Amino acid sequence: MSKNILILKGSPRQQGNSNVLADQVAEGARQAGAQVESITLHGLDIRPCDGCDSCVETGVCVLKDDMQPLYPKLLAAHALVLASPVYWFTYSAQLKTCIDRWYAVWNYRKDLFKGKPVGIVLSYGDDDLHSSGGINAIHTFESMFRFLQADIIGIVHASLDGVGDALKHPDLLEKARQLGGKLAG
Ligand SMILES: Cc1cc2nc3c(=O)[nH]c(=O)nc-3n(C[C@H](O)[C@H](O)[C@H](O)COP(=O)(O)O)c2cc1C
Repeated sequence: MSKNILILKGSPRQQGNSNVLADQVAEGARQAGAQVESITLHGLDIRPCDGCDSCVETGVCVLKDDMQPLYPKLLAAHALVLASPVYWFTYSAQLKTCIDRWYAVWNYRKDLFKGKPVGIVLSYGDDDLHSSGGINAIHTFESMFRFLQADIIGIVHASLDGVGDALKHPDLLEKARQLGGKLAG
């Protein structure tokens, strides 16, 4: 059975670096036989979690917005990819707002991501993972997926600034394609 891979993109830039790399992950995964769906979070109506805790009782989020169609996709995914630019020393608000809303689906099914492979894609303007703050995003993802008992099987990250800069680095594109293949395997 082919794997079903969900990619959540946290950049507002359609042709941005994290999107270019995420598309390569998708390409690698498709070549390895997976079905891939990529979702650009920017522009969706995803409101911040209001902490009402209704979902603790019901497993259902009271906020009726674009997270609702995303919940079944999160449940159905065999593997997950989170792609984001580094904004202010961590991942983007677009991605954070979406992840906060996982609270409802986690209350619905606590083993939602258990044993699932996860890939991470990060791009940042500063020189390296530490000065850029990319390391903070990675620490958060590691804590989150340890808690959810999912396995981060690969992280593709790079110092890239202008739109499309990722396309100038064939080695990086290849690394992203390989991550896709691994997620599909
Ligand atoms: C609002 C904003 C905040 C940023 N904050 C950081 C930062 O904290 N560290 C960093 O290295 N780069 C920062 N950058 C640069 C982006 O991370 C960099 O341009 C990245 O490659 C953009 O990814 P994208 O093309 O996928 O959108 C910031 C850019 C913006 C627009």
